[in-house]
Amino acid sequence: MAQINENFIKIPATYLFSEIAKRVAQHKEENPTAPIIRMGIGDVSLPLPDASVDAMIKAADEQRSAETFRGYGPEQGYAFLREAIVINDFTNRGIDIAEDEIFVSDGAKSDTGNIGDIFDVNNRVAITDPSYPVYVDTNAMAGRAGEPTATGEWTNLVYLQCNSENNFVPALPTEKVDLVYLCYPNNPTGTTLTKEQLTVWVEYAKANNVILLFDAAYEAFITEEDVPHSIYEIEGAKDVAIEFRSFSKTAGFTGTRCGYTVVPKQLMGNTANGEKVSLNKLWNRRQCTKFNGTSYIVQRAAEATYSPEGKKQVKALIDFYTENARIIREGLTKAGYTIFGGVNAPYVWAKAPVGMGSWEYFDFLLKEKNIVTTPGAGFGASGEGYVRFSAFGSRENTIEAMKRLEK
Ligand code: MLT
Repeated sequence: MAQINENFIKIPATYLFSEIAKRVAQHKEENPTAPIIRMGIGDVSLPLPDASVDAMIKAADEQRSAETFRGYGPEQGYAFLREAIVINDFTNRGIDIAEDEIFVSDGAKSDTGNIGDIFDVNNRVAITDPSYPVYVDTNAMAGRAGEPTATGEWTNLVYLQCNSENNFVPALPTEKVDLVYLCYPNNPTGTTLTKEQLTVWVEYAKANNVILLFDAAYEAFITEEDVPHSIYEIEGAKDVAIEFRSFSKTAGFTGTRCGYTVVPKQLMGNTANGEKVSLNKLWNRRQCTKFNGTSYIVQRAAEATYSPEGKKQVKALIDFYTENARIIREGLTKAGYTIFGGVNAPYVWAKAPVGMGSWEYFDFLLKEKNIVTTPGAGFGASGEGYVRFSAFGSRENTIEAMKRLEK
């Protein structure tokens, strides 16, 4: 019989959002008419931008004829999309990124999960706590996290606590680490780092030979001036950081699937005997072996988000969810909650009533108010005592949820 990767038995039996979906389905089964409002997983509710749908129809039509049909595409993504990304997301912001530093994919979840393939299992990993569960789970699957403890923390991970006491700004690790996951605007807390605060991380990484894995999936929601959209806005970041981007939250691609990862060519890792190796080359090699590229049709849809019409439509989506976030912040504050985030992010992080754990409060909101949230503890030990509200719902449901909570 084949022996399994036993790391899979060490991780929680179900992925956070699958566990939530299970509890919601059970509640629905027991209460078929319950008017459930979903503010849990960050899944969008508005349709795709018209520009993207039109581009997909055109691209699909091209598949009817031998002259325009596309088979396998480049594993790194088509030049038309990589070029549009470079110009719009980087050059126009004064950032120098080349097309061959962009790797188009089916989303930031896959890339943040797969990036571990190019790093040794013995690297020491630091993770902000709370954090997007993919970072912890995938390191645990790879055997890089060590053993789970009774509190659900892992023996080999270094946790960087983010809480109301430190204003959700993680302190630099006090022990030697090799990789650090940072996600800003942050999932789940909805908080951000200013340019100055992110500069501290880039300088630390340079001085200590650390690679930063920077998840910028929520950058489109930034409303404040001094919050960087990309880590490469910080001088020297190309020497120390990989950045992950997504069209999911920006342009409603949660079901359509497209994202990209930036691996600068000057970014180096070491072999065991100290030889420097380009991480861009390694990621390219990994992708060519394990990935056959994002579908042509989807890449055309992503390209269309950068057209003049597409940009207007994307802005309308972001504005809509940003207004939802404002309604949630205002509603929760009025109802007496202590809240964080929601200004530069589609998530509001709220303290559960004193004495109530996150899962307990999640269950209460589900059963008594028919509102689905995400329990903070699902994102790590420092998330205990919090729940996360997502602003990706309809306007009607967002307003109705706040009314229910006010009572
Ligand atoms: C979340 O709710 O944290 C995200 O939607 C999950 C994801 O993007 O995979």
